[in-house]
Formats: sequence, structure tokens, C-alpha cells
Amino acid sequence: MLQNKKILLGVCGSIAAYKAAHLTRLLIKEGVEVRVVMTNAATKFITPLTLATLSKNPVLSDFVKDKTGQWNNHVELGLWADVMIIAPASANTLAKMAHGLCDNLLLATYLSARCPVMIAPAMDLDISPLHKN
Ligand SMILES: Cc1cc2nc3c(=O)[nH]c(=O)nc-3n(C[C@H](O)[C@H](O)[C@H](O)COP(=O)(O)O)c2cc1C
Repeated sequence: MLQNKKILLGVCGSIAAYKAAHLTRLLIKEGVEVRVVMTNAATKFITPLTLATLSKNPVLSDFVKDKTGQWNNHVELGLWADVMIIAPASANTLAKMAHGLCDNLLLATYLSARCPVMIAPAMDLDISPLHKN
């Protein structure tokens, strides 16, 4: 059913970002073409190298590629995808999406997307020692 579908995976800065590796692997096994966009915060949790290797595509996180002025085309990415999945979606990114902010490539791609967008919000439940009995 997923064979040859094009899925754009957006990864935000959450401890759940490690699950993006497994999700990418599962999608690739189903014959999906996967491209990944990460926020800068997400790259602190899981490396672009991991997701680039698993997705077999370069991972994008910046508007501009290098000092030559080449840029990553968020509109093209948004048009390319059959579905965009933002997983994990941080509270920060969700708030920016709700208000139409556009200060990174993931958000610009989201705002440009013409396809359905699926969102998997994530918040770690870390019990502080202060709250332990
Ligand atoms: C260890 C750790 C775990 C975090 N987990 C989450 C989380 O599950 N959900 C969330 O919304 N933010 C989480 N954050 C906070 C985000 O990383 C932070 O708000 C960041 O600015 C999100 O940036 P982004 O939305 O551009 O990816 C976590 C931060 C740290 C240090």
C-alpha cells in the first residue's frame, strides 16, 4: 500500500527523535521514498548522518546549503511529498505552526506543503527527583 509513496519526515528536538530512525527504516522497508527535514534542535538528539543513511537521501535542516548561496527549496519539498509526517513534533514547533512562524526549513516546508500533514506531538515524562516519594 505504501509502495512508491513519497513521505517527507519532519523531526523536531525531542527525546523521541531517536524513534525517527526506526520509523524511517520501517517506511523504507515498505518501499516508501523518504526524505527527512530536521530542526537544528533535532540534530542534537539524533544525527543527520543516521537519518541520511537510513533514508538513502541527504537530510536537510538549513535554508542555505553553503556560502555559494545555494538553498534548499522548501516549496519543492512540500510539493514533492504525498504526505508530510512531523514526528516527533515538539511543543515549540507546534506553537510555531499554529501561529504561522517560519524561522527554519521544517516550518517553511510545512507552510508550503500541499499534501496532508500528520503530526505526532511528543513530550517526555521525566519524573523529577523532587516529585518522587
Ligand atoms: C532532554 C530533552 C528532552 C526534550 N524533550 C522534549 C519533548 O519531548 N517535547 C518537546 O516539545 N520538547 C522537548 N524538549 C525541548 C525542545 O528540545 C526545545 O523546545 C527545542 O527548542 C525544540 O526545538 P524545535 O521545535 O525547533 O525542534 C526537550 C529538551 C531536552 C533537553
